[in-house]
Amino acid sequence: MKRLLLASLLPLVCAQPLVTGLQNGFQPAWWKEAVVYQVYPRSFQDSNGDGIGDLNGITSRLDYLAKLGVNVIWLSPHYDSPNADNGYDIRDYRKVMKEFGTMEDFDRMLAGIKARHMRLIIDLVVNHTSDEHRWFVESRSSKTNPYRDYYIWRDGHPPNNYPSYFSGSAWQLDPTTGQSYLHLFAVKQPDLNWDNPKVRQEVFSMMRFWLDKGVDGFRMDVIPLISKAPGLPNLTPEQLKDPSRVWANGPHRDEYLQQMNREVLSKYDSMTVGEAIGITVDETTNIVNSARHELNMIFNFDAVRLNRGADYTGRPWMLADLKAIYAKHARVLSKTDWDTVFLANHDNPRLVSNFGDDSSPEMRVRSAKLLQTMLLTLRGTVFLYQGDELGMTNYPFTRLDQFDDIEVKNLYATGKIAEARLVKEAARFGRDNSRTPIQWSADANAGFTSANAKPWLAVNPNYKEINAAAQTADPNSVLSHTQKAIALRHEHPAFVYGDYQDLDPAHKQVFAYTRILGGEKFLVVLNVSRQPVDYKLPASLKTREALLTNAALSETGAATLHLGAWDARVYRY
Ligand code: NOJ
Repeated sequence: MKRLLLASLLPLVCAQPLVTGLQNGFQPAWWKEAVVYQVYPRSFQDSNGDGIGDLNGITSRLDYLAKLGVNVIWLSPHYDSPNADNGYDIRDYRKVMKEFGTMEDFDRMLAGIKARHMRLIIDLVVNHTSDEHRWFVESRSSKTNPYRDYYIWRDGHPPNNYPSYFSGSAWQLDPTTGQSYLHLFAVKQPDLNWDNPKVRQEVFSMMRFWLDKGVDGFRMDVIPLISKAPGLPNLTPEQLKDPSRVWANGPHRDEYLQQMNREVLSKYDSMTVGEAIGITVDETTNIVNSARHELNMIFNFDAVRLNRGADYTGRPWMLADLKAIYAKHARVLSKTDWDTVFLANHDNPRLVSNFGDDSSPEMRVRSAKLLQTMLLTLRGTVFLYQGDELGMTNYPFTRLDQFDDIEVKNLYATGKIAEARLVKEAARFGRDNSRTPIQWSADANAGFTSANAKPWLAVNPNYKEINAAAQTADPNSVLSHTQKAIALRHEHPAFVYGDYQDLDPAHKQVFAYTRILGGEKFLVVLNVSRQPVDYKLPASLKTREALLTNAALSETGAATLHLGAWDARVYRY
């Protein structure tokens, strides 16, 4: 009886933030203090030998996640889907994808998460559905079907010049009625018509279904795109350079999000994070300011796409550019806003390959540790992507047929890019890099699936060298370092609520910043390069204690730090 009572109280206990009372002007909240870990279920852990990750696989790895110290899991889509875009095309919002298991498996996973005092947020993909969703099957059947207005139908082929994110026109002519439907993503991802109040009520009711089950919130897929421009006029040549800017700023976006908040979110203790494609940092407050009652926070793309041009082309960047982004966030967002920090997810390359140095084992380990140190000491709720805690790298793609991603396949089909160039560029920036299976061990198939199964996407051949089993046993591994960095963040509210000050915005190699909350003062010094460098601290700053380092030296109290390749140090001062 006693135990039962305690168990039922636990979620309430965990709903409290670690600190109380205004912190540096910020209202404390558990979701501000969270370290979130994104699980891409297809690639996390297979439990039944079909080569596809599943929910029971996730459940079997919850102890690993709890030990890592993350306290919120973001689960990429787990819903019934024909998988045109790996689950971001949903056929039934109230059903689990059969490859991933059953609703009972989901409930067991959720109970396991709660039992370990962690929380779960799920992906809410409601800008579009699958074309196999019942609503769309009805909608396309005739112009007078009651579901016709659930989607966006127009005369003309195409009705305007909108391009799809996945190449070609964003319109598909449907022979049954001779009209075209809008799909900003794949042909099999028709956009919902949010101007129809019935669509909004359908979405809200589905959200309640999952919240009532006990999920703790949502990551909202491309959520700013839900309000379309009245009359859908053509984009001007200028707007065509970045259509997201227009699509994300439709006239009813805030009204619909406020309605969602009023009718659903405000009734639960939930966490919301919007994938805010097309929203600049300056515009962020419009969505996340607490007085507006929309979302808790959003993902801006400024940092994660700093090194990207159009499609998969690269763009030269310097450390000062990244620092300028973080400084701008700190300047623009107020005490009643909240921010996120992340540099990887299932749509971007591997963290260490993209922003670190994977050219040798030594540099890979050092730079992966530096990047985790940075993410876990910066401002905003931290989002880590699965496998980055191991320093997993991009896959050595050499052929087009090694890619699974619809984005790569559709780009190839346009004929815009020669095959050899596309393979080279997608190997650098393609989404499949981060979708290869998690490398759990040196066993066959990296322990992701059974030895004789064929993983849905090839395992990175470096799994014998980079895997969780080896790193769990090694106190100097990227995994152990990440674990320490997470613990450090949980231990010191200054990393969550403290002021952020960049000590040297123009320095080409060193990123040095302070986090201060009342009397708690921390200094982070990162040598974001493989060249050693001597770094002189400001005269007034005397370090007292080295709390975390990936380096041989700690040099506590020194006026000049002798930083080795990719050195990352966190001091108390
Ligand atoms: C953003 C998701 O992160 C991405 O994976 C997906 O392809 C698109 N939205 C469409 O849902």
